Amino acid sequence: MKKTILSLLCCSLLVACTETYRPAYHHTPERNWMNDPNGMFYDDVNQVWHLYFQHNPYATVWGHMTWAHSTSTDLIHWTTQPNAIMPDSLGTIFSGSAVIDKYNTAGFGENAVVAMFTYSEKVGQIQAIAYSNDGGYTFTKYEGNPVLTADIKDFRDPKVFWNEATSQWNMVLAAGQEVRFYSSSNLKEWTYLSSFGEGLGCHGGVWECPDLMLLPVRGTEEQKWVLIVNINPGGPFGGSATQYFVGDWDGQTFTTDQTNTQWMDYGKDHYATVSFHNAPNNRHVVLAWMSNWQYADRVPTKHFRSANSIARDIDLYVDANNQYRIGVRPAPEMEAMSTQPTQALAPLAKIEVNVIRGTEPASITLSNDKGEQVVMTYDFERNTFTMDRTASGLVEFAREFPCVTSVELENKSEYQVTLYLDRCSIEAFDGQGLWSMTNLVFPTKPYNQVQTQGCEAKLYKIN
Ligand code: FRU
Repeated sequence: MKKTILSLLCCSLLVACTETYRPAYHHTPERNWMNDPNGMFYDDVNQVWHLYFQHNPYATVWGHMTWAHSTSTDLIHWTTQPNAIMPDSLGTIFSGSAVIDKYNTAGFGENAVVAMFTYSEKVGQIQAIAYSNDGGYTFTKYEGNPVLTADIKDFRDPKVFWNEATSQWNMVLAAGQEVRFYSSSNLKEWTYLSSFGEGLGCHGGVWECPDLMLLPVRGTEEQKWVLIVNINPGGPFGGSATQYFVGDWDGQTFTTDQTNTQWMDYGKDHYATVSFHNAPNNRHVVLAWMSNWQYADRVPTKHFRSANSIARDIDLYVDANNQYRIGVRPAPEMEAMSTQPTQALAPLAKIEVNVIRGTEPASITLSNDKGEQVVMTYDFERNTFTMDRTASGLVEFAREFPCVTSVELENKSEYQVTLYLDRCSIEAFDGQGLWSMTNLVFPTKPYNQVQTQGCEAKLYKIN
């Protein structure tokens, strides 16, 4: 009997892991629903990346929100760990962050991992903490919870960081269509500092999952503070997206001269982007939930729903209009993935494209023999790069899914773009790290042909 149950379990796990659209080198939940990445941190002693995520343990749609947990040593292969923080009488567990409390400021022990998250309950949203004395594998909820309440309906997603300049913890969280900043000396008592956002950036929807970090400006000694604010709906292609503001943070208030809205990615499946705490070598490593609230619960996967983007390293650069912009590149771990040059397009592929500016548009088309295709175009008149997934395969499961996403290009004589193809996604990265574009695709057979016009493509099979 035991043997039968065990083999049934193994069999269903195998089916779940090998299903058609299960990504091979992206993080996914073993089963059931996932949305935002949460509480990500790097354990520098054991050299392990910890990723928690919004998870429904019981179904492939949103509900019963729980912090599930995965770990990785290379940001490519992920090991499923037992769920980390479960709902209780205070509510279900919404998004948040985690820090390593090196100096035991909270009194939970030296190097305790302290997670701060939102309890969502019928009457509202409140902030709470939990601590781990085993490096982030098991958590104990703080008996004094909640640690922060307010009479605001959408009040969630605390992101905590250590402010070197003031030797204090700071926290940013979403409050309606603004963010609020707080400070604390012990992670338990929080003092309100200021709010940011009224009349600035995009306000097409609720602000969610903010993050604040100091980023280096490429090629200079300068650093600027960057406030990431995810927004849903209101994204440039409909639904969810990640906007950001570049400015200054003096430990009390965030200010910016930026007058326009800036987007961190120009695809339709890039949301809830936040950074890892304590990433090595002063890196700023981010992950995005690779979906969109418009159709996330209808995408045609069976045993699991949603994947995270590949890990990316971000910094700042100054663009041709003299504006600060977030620069994004695949994390070095992703670039170091084992690959092999090939003539034929493989289902797991990296494609390096070199484009020389011409009078006619240049294009790269990935297709299969069912006539399903994704067309990427450099249009030199409009100065845009676009990705058209309207005929990419299964597109009819949601009215909002078929689309063409677009990014404006700097005026250059030559461009490079690297494409990462997995079983249900294409991530395009500008060769200079100026922009990225992240889109889901569901071909009914893997794309196995590449056609280029006015450009050259080198194909690699990802092993
Ligand atoms: C963003 C979000 C968060 C919230 C979580 C709930 O996708 O709505 O604001 O904490 O998802 O699952």
